[in-house]
Amino acid sequence: MTEQRTAFPPLPSFVDQATISGMAAYDALCAEAARDYEGYWARLAREHIAWKQPFSRTLDEDDAPFYKWFGDGRLNVSYNCLDRHLIDGNADKTAIIFEADDGMSTHVSYRELHEKVCKFANGLKSRGIKKGDRVIIYMSMSVEGVAAMQACARIGATHSVVFGGFSAKSLQERIIDAGAVAVITADEQLRGGKRLPLKSIVDEALALGGCDSVKDVIVYRRTGGTIGFEAGRDLWLHELVASQPAKCEPEWVDAEHPLFILYTSGSTGTPKGVQHSSGGYLLWAALTMKWSFDIKPGDVYWCTADIGWVTGHSYIAYGPTAVGATQVVFEGIPTFPNAGRFWDTIARHKVSTFYTAPTAIRSLIKASDVDPKVHPKNYDLSSLRLLGTVGEPINPEAWMWYYTQVGGEKCPIVDTFWQTETGGHMITPLPGATPMVPGSCTLPLPGIMAAIVDEAGNELADGQGGMLVVKRPWPSMIRTIWNNPERFKASYFPAELGGNLYLAGDGAIRDEHSGYFTITGRIDDVLNVSGHRMGTMEIESALVANPLVAEAAVVGKPDATTGESICAFVVLKQATPSGEEARKIALELRDWVAKEIGPIAKPKEIRFGDNLPKTRSGKIMRRLLRVLAKGDPVTQDVSTLENPAILDQLSTPA
Ligand code: WT7
Repeated sequence: MTEQRTAFPPLPSFVDQATISGMAAYDALCAEAARDYEGYWARLAREHIAWKQPFSRTLDEDDAPFYKWFGDGRLNVSYNCLDRHLIDGNADKTAIIFEADDGMSTHVSYRELHEKVCKFANGLKSRGIKKGDRVIIYMSMSVEGVAAMQACARIGATHSVVFGGFSAKSLQERIIDAGAVAVITADEQLRGGKRLPLKSIVDEALALGGCDSVKDVIVYRRTGGTIGFEAGRDLWLHELVASQPAKCEPEWVDAEHPLFILYTSGSTGTPKGVQHSSGGYLLWAALTMKWSFDIKPGDVYWCTADIGWVTGHSYIAYGPTAVGATQVVFEGIPTFPNAGRFWDTIARHKVSTFYTAPTAIRSLIKASDVDPKVHPKNYDLSSLRLLGTVGEPINPEAWMWYYTQVGGEKCPIVDTFWQTETGGHMITPLPGATPMVPGSCTLPLPGIMAAIVDEAGNELADGQGGMLVVKRPWPSMIRTIWNNPERFKASYFPAELGGNLYLAGDGAIRDEHSGYFTITGRIDDVLNVSGHRMGTMEIESALVANPLVAEAAVVGKPDATTGESICAFVVLKQATPSGEEARKIALELRDWVAKEIGPIAKPKEIRFGDNLPKTRSGKIMRRLLRVLAKGDPVTQDVSTLENPAILDQLSTPA
């Protein structure tokens, strides 16, 4: 792990025009942050954000780890993302190129987006929705989805976007936890030529009960499909905005005002509502667009994430608009109408900056092996100047393919390591400065004090793997877990590490020679399947909620395409099934999990046994289950195992 791998120096042509040009510029910023941490962040916040009222205090640590940044400053995020560009003379610049599932595209200028957002915001206000209210957004990828987020920001309502692939039950849990007053959704979504329900799932979620806080369901008409409509509760978006004024004075909020809550999985318990701020969050979303992506006025930027994940917040809804960029918003899937869709879309819209997940790259490598017609070499990708990856480690083979076959060896790749909780990039190469090493996210951004520590919080020497931490608070960090400040402290600032280190939950190692970081994967019971984060406990809870199931344990299994896949070990209340019966029950349980959480949580593999491997004290030996899932021979000592005989039974899938 510590051997020097081939480094790819940044291309001189790129360095020449880069915002951070050369390592000396990177070092200078790091030195500035080290010399005067608060002064550094204050300078950046003054330069990159339009404040209604300037802040006088940069960082407030009085109530650590509940840090406050730019606390007495006032701003509006939507103003910063939209109105600013009207003043700057970019009103007619394209903000969004909407690439629909069927390949049709529409251009929306900053002026038009501003008007859409203002009308939407006025519509929300007309329903009595106000600053501090929580609004759930359950929508597919659309201009309206982005506008819904911006409209909430404009009136100071805190949004919580729920990914359109989550089940009614997951949606209901989030509505209740957030205490939402409204849900914004669409009739249906279009993905890969198929119509998938949204509104009917909202109906189902609300019917599950406990959602009395919801007064309005606002529906964007996407497909015109038949849906149920409840008078007094449901309203069409187009009717709501029809008579609204095209201007809406922004609600000026404190920098710490919660812009959004986004639910994400932890190793235990229900999903956590990660709460983000307005000022600090926006600063980093905007600044990383300039630093990591080197975004320039002429760029056409495309991030393939969904607004249901944090990447779609920071790098679709907020970052690109904050810097006045032109971006593609994509409704579809990478394999429709064929696996050349990404490359075809890049060629048609002359995309210059492309940001996607390693899983997508790996699956498109496979697809072009099967069908050479969809290989990137068949498309004109000459507009590309920068590539990025996010969500999971990228294996060097996939990195090389991306670099050579997609980027034509002329585009830097930024392997951006970050998390829902960090709000924006943390460790990433700078495209005009950092020599790239495939598979390494390289160096922390200036001002991000990343380190690697042992179980007691002691910093480790380079070359020794340990836990990734951040030693100082930074502006875009998580503020708390909604409704659960104690869980926030325990999860991210654990007492065992001294209580003042931010614990990322990932293992990492730093190279002895280059100081480069390589992420080695989660150190907790969190899985990463296709860049989607899931807690093993959530899936286990879903499984044991099925009347057939007595006990379940879920582990991750390495997967060449999706990074990890979900493998579930299940003990049924009835006798352990085999053959056809086992396959039938496995299918039933997979559908059950899809219904409980969402299709992304379906176990790829289910194995049945009379029991789970446990120690004599009754603890499930997960490490052993991971070995079995992988199909490796069990080499470790199983003498502490209560019931070694079941290992054989659990070694084959149903
Ligand atoms: C987890 C966070 C980052 C936004 C999307 C996912 C893994 C993320 C990388 C990377 C290696 C990565 C980590 C992290 N991860 N980016 N470049 N290299 N691992 O956000 O759902 O909060 O997941 O994704 O394990 O902790 P998330």
